[in-house]
Amino acid sequence: MSGSAAPGNQTVTITLDGADRSTTLPLLAGTVGPSVADIRKLYNDLGIFTFDPGYGGTAACESKITYIDGDEGILLHRGYPIEQLAENSTFLEVAYLLLNGELPNAGERHDFEQGVIRHTMLHEQLRSFYNGFRRDAHPMAVMCGVVGAMSAFYHDSLDINDPHHRKISAFRLIAKLPTIAAWAYKYSIGQPFIYPRNDRGYAENFLYMMNAVPTEDYKVSPILTRAMDRILILHADHEQNASTSTVRLAGSTGANPFACIAAGIASLWGPAHGGANEAVLKMLAEIGSVKNIPDFISKVKDKNSNVRLMGFGHRVYKNYDPRAKIMQRTCHEVLGELGIKDDPLLELAAELERIALHDEYFVARKLYPNVDFYSGIILKAMGFPTSMFTVLFAVARTVGWISQWKEMIEDPAQRIGRPRQIYTGPARREFVELADRT
Ligand code: ACO
Repeated sequence: MSGSAAPGNQTVTITLDGADRSTTLPLLAGTVGPSVADIRKLYNDLGIFTFDPGYGGTAACESKITYIDGDEGILLHRGYPIEQLAENSTFLEVAYLLLNGELPNAGERHDFEQGVIRHTMLHEQLRSFYNGFRRDAHPMAVMCGVVGAMSAFYHDSLDINDPHHRKISAFRLIAKLPTIAAWAYKYSIGQPFIYPRNDRGYAENFLYMMNAVPTEDYKVSPILTRAMDRILILHADHEQNASTSTVRLAGSTGANPFACIAAGIASLWGPAHGGANEAVLKMLAEIGSVKNIPDFISKVKDKNSNVRLMGFGHRVYKNYDPRAKIMQRTCHEVLGELGIKDDPLLELAAELERIALHDEYFVARKLYPNVDFYSGIILKAMGFPTSMFTVLFAVARTVGWISQWKEMIEDPAQRIGRPRQIYTGPARREFVELADRT
């Protein structure tokens, strides 16, 4: 059984009006957070399902990895606040924490880093996959294809029931994603692929593969390396969001981890999820100048316009996204390092934020800046094209996806994911011959 009984063995009783039937459901409690009604026997007892489009009120699994209190703006990984991890830890250390449950000691940290670093190269034949894509392909399309193809290359780690295979697959995914991502970029601009260097740290290596050319030495700025590492930490995991749930759903069928992560990448691509920071920059470019903000805000508030203030709002956070605060600080550090003063985008962003935080429309709906509001500005300043923003998110989130996938595979209660529906189509009817159809 998942979870443990809620204090006082509380239960929920549901009575089917008019049918003289009821069922008593156990309430389960986590370490923190609201209790959860265990509805598994509801259909057997009352013959009814629950209806929850978007799963806003449904816990689909038990997890020990990440906790979010959206009302208070709290994000914990394995109990540690995101602010402390972003300040004091490194991305690979956070990866170890998410995968294994505890922060590593010095020896464990060294072994883990070496384990990841040894897997940064791609199988050489994977190179030829890139040539099959158009140069103007969106790099997320390339990511879906190349990551999915990994399962055709790493046969020796595909047994999901073997803990060693699961570990090697995790190393391979975490290590190779930056290489795959940087090569997707290099391919799009027609530059030679830069091979990873195992004497560089994770974030440094990524920046190196993105920006270096074979003809020159390339020195990566420590401030930008630290900013990149922090951006990766902030995106590493976020509980059961759409892409993570996609990974779990795909994984629940027994699909191999490379296929599952490719599914997660596809899910992340959408503008309501990982595509949002790309959408923020497009929005800022469209607004163009501070004087156009009031017009834009009116459009956002107009129910018929379908315009949203990108980078604002979140399904879970109904308070400031704690990651957005760290991102805002990092943004100033990066712009300072790059000598960018009075950046017009930043000025626009700051004014939009100021207005939105005071405007009744946003206040009433608890729409606060989310992590994507500032990350786009930072990444643009660091020279990333907007099409690479979501790719970078995928590099970071791979750590969360593979941790959640591993947790699911190791959970004895795990079953194939299979939601139900309310069917509202036609009831049974007889086939009509073509000649008889009107
Ligand atoms: N701009 C304007 N209005 C908004 C916004 C927004 N960004 N977000 C929500 N609203 C409004 C809705 O119109 C709705 O108003 P109504 O009650 O008058 O109809 C109300 O707020 C509730 O909105 P929902 O769509 O029900 O909220 P939901 O939880 O489903 O959506 C989402 C969350 C998808 C993130 C939404 O806020 C959004 O589209 N934001 C912009 C995209 C974005 O920044 N996404 C990144 C999310 S973070 C991440 O993936 C890392």
